[in-house]
Amino acid sequence: MAKVTLIVLRVCFVCLGNICRSPTAEGVLRRLLVEAGLERAVHVESAGTASYHVGELPDRRTREHARRRGLVLESRARHFTAASFQRFELVLAMDEANRRALLELAPSEADASKVRLLRDYDPEAPPGASVPDPYYGGAEDFERVLDQCERACRGLLDALREGGAVDR
Ligand code: 4NP
Repeated sequence: MAKVTLIVLRVCFVCLGNICRSPTAEGVLRRLLVEAGLERAVHVESAGTASYHVGELPDRRTREHARRRGLVLESRARHFTAASFQRFELVLAMDEANRRALLELAPSEADASKVRLLRDYDPEAPPGASVPDPYYGGAEDFERVLDQCERACRGLLDALREGGAVDR
């Protein structure tokens, strides 16, 4: 009998360039899903609201800091466009500027309602908190991105389970 893969939710993380924050969140959530045996239930991607890095691997510093936590990040940068909304149920922005850019891009109210801030799922974050851009920062900024993505993605997984979107 043919094997059926059941994807119950499609999630896209979105930052500006898709080379620092959103590929980090993508890698972090993927690992949590594998650890939970839920990798078939949630499809994960990332993209940027800007197109200047399309096709590139994540930033060298992003990959190096992730690698130290055992995460190999090798997705290629993509541009999030109005058409991208068709492919996802949940679109998670890294900060307010990207959240606003996504809302402007959304073709419908239903699409706009897919947009949330990632750190809304971080139990330690105040409402409206962002994952700050580390691009012009130092090592501690890249470490902070990983810490924030790990907390928020754990919270996201808990929320998905509680909401019944994934059933294990
Ligand atoms: P990201 O970081 O949005 O987390 O991927 C940035 C990457 C590149 C640039 C800005 C932010 N840039 O200006 O090229």
